[in-house]
Amino acid sequence: MVQFPAELFVVPLGAPSGLSLRLARADDLRPLHTTCHPDKPLLQFRAHFEKMLDWQENDRCCWLVACDETGQIVGSGELVAYPHGNELANLVVIPTRRDEGIGTAMIEVLTAVARHLGLDGLEIGVDVSNGRALALYERLGFTMDRQLNLPNQEPAIILHKAL
Ligand SMILES: CC(C)(COP(=O)(O)OP(=O)(O)OC[C@H]1O[C@@H](n2cnc3c(N)ncnc32)[C@H](O)[C@@H]1OP(=O)(O)O)[C@@H](O)C(=O)NCCC(=O)NCCS
Repeated sequence: MVQFPAELFVVPLGAPSGLSLRLARADDLRPLHTTCHPDKPLLQFRAHFEKMLDWQENDRCCWLVACDETGQIVGSGELVAYPHGNELANLVVIPTRRDEGIGTAMIEVLTAVARHLGLDGLEIGVDVSNGRALALYERLGFTMDRQLNLPNQEPAIILHKAL
């Protein structure tokens, strides 16, 4: 397993005070579900979480957790390295803490982790109707690559950033 240097998780300038960023750990399962993914069935979330923590041990995933000054989880996002490409996935900031720069800070740190792992590019998918998230990703240097149309799902735009 690659040892992630602590400097990678230093909170970037511009993020709210009291914010901390760290890797997810096994005891985050329920708090992460409650705070960031309450819409997902717990069993399904647990299966994904356990797989990603396993991948995290093998340098294929970095599951980043953002906490406030009391240690409560306020955001979450995953960097996943697949054979066909590397993806930022499931980026969420809890509704009461949006628009403070937490999402920006998580993307900046996950991008730094991707560079540390030697990845050459990152993709992120966004529903076509999610204009704010799209604008945020474009501001952070991602550019539109293609549209993805899956059955019974809203079309998504895939953005790419070369590292
Ligand atoms: C998308 C999402 C993760 C972004 O997180 P966020 O913490 O709100 O993002 P940021 O605060 O970094 O940036 C968003 C806005 O805040 C602004 N902002 C950035 N830093 C800021 C700061 N220090 N203070 C105030 N505003 C700030 C940005 O300019 C941006 O403005 P705009 O979109 O109103 O033009 C969050 O909105 C979310 O969880 N949405 C629901 C789930 C979702 O859609 N996920 C994305 C799936 S692809």
